[in-house]
Amino acid sequence: MDLKRRPRRLRASETIRKMVRENHLRIDDLIYPMFVMPGEKTRVEVSAMPGVYNFSLDEFVKALDEVVKLGIPAILLFGIPESKDSVGSGAYAEHGIVQEAVRIAKKHYPELYVITDVCLCEYTDHGHCGLIEQGEILNDPTLDLLAQTALSHARAGADMVAPSDMMDGRVAAIRDLLDKEGYAHIPIMAYSAKFASGFYGPFREAAGSTPQFGDRRTYQMDPPNGNEAMLETALDIEEGADLIIVKPALAYGDIIYRTKERFGLPVAAYNVSGEYSMVKAAAANGWIDEKRIVMEALVSMKRAGADLLITYHALDVARWLNEEGRL
Ligand code: PBG
Repeated sequence: MDLKRRPRRLRASETIRKMVRENHLRIDDLIYPMFVMPGEKTRVEVSAMPGVYNFSLDEFVKALDEVVKLGIPAILLFGIPESKDSVGSGAYAEHGIVQEAVRIAKKHYPELYVITDVCLCEYTDHGHCGLIEQGEILNDPTLDLLAQTALSHARAGADMVAPSDMMDGRVAAIRDLLDKEGYAHIPIMAYSAKFASGFYGPFREAAGSTPQFGDRRTYQMDPPNGNEAMLETALDIEEGADLIIVKPALAYGDIIYRTKERFGLPVAAYNVSGEYSMVKAAAANGWIDEKRIVMEALVSMKRAGADLLITYHALDVARWLNEEGRL
């Protein structure tokens, strides 16, 4: 065969493959989601997410030690409150569980970048992300509560806030209040393209946030829609979003790609709970090679255009990357 072009030449050894590799996972890409709850000396493993825990604050601090030692730059915090009510008071309480977790994290590890999830669903007794009237999830009256939540996180010392509720106008409401109260320097990472996904199932067990009636389809996006994700993202940027989250990640590579291509802002891919559980379950059965699958899935998000990776695999990934660095 008289072949001029032979792509296999550049695949002949690990050395040349490494030299021409186009995308890389870095420890600096990683954001580790963590769950905090009231109590003492307890960590409860989430049953569908082996290796992921709900931490009491003292255990949370211990766990942070490992996060920091591994060089992971950032965490994303979720709270499970002592009690829930119809207006999600725990979300914006000055001494709520997330607010206290932020304080304690920043006190022990000032360099650790602490991001907070801003939403009501973990704090409402009905499990929805907004206020309810006659079975309807209200948009505008919810905005002030979301802004108050973000403000209480900033006051506690959060470095960045991440609204995940999908109400219209929430980024503007949060930006306004933060600016007014002296927090113009706090960036907003918006869950702009957040789909109504079956992949959040295990998270809802972890956070006890399964809606008590109906579902989230009137506020989270319909999975078949891509153009709508571009609209949501454009609106969030207009309203002041600094970074964009695409969520879930694995089945939404096209959305990651389009978001990066079109807007150029930093994009975070959220490798969600169900994506984690699937890998863990298959690995526990010996059906897949966990490390290989995790690294391949995550680098696919980088290849699609993500800058940052929010992943429950962060500790393992950091360990693997550190080991490779030492070889
Ligand atoms: C809160 C929120 C959810 C997730 C992140 N923030 C749950 C939901 O929208 O039901 C899901 C994260 C995951 O599945 O890992 N609104």
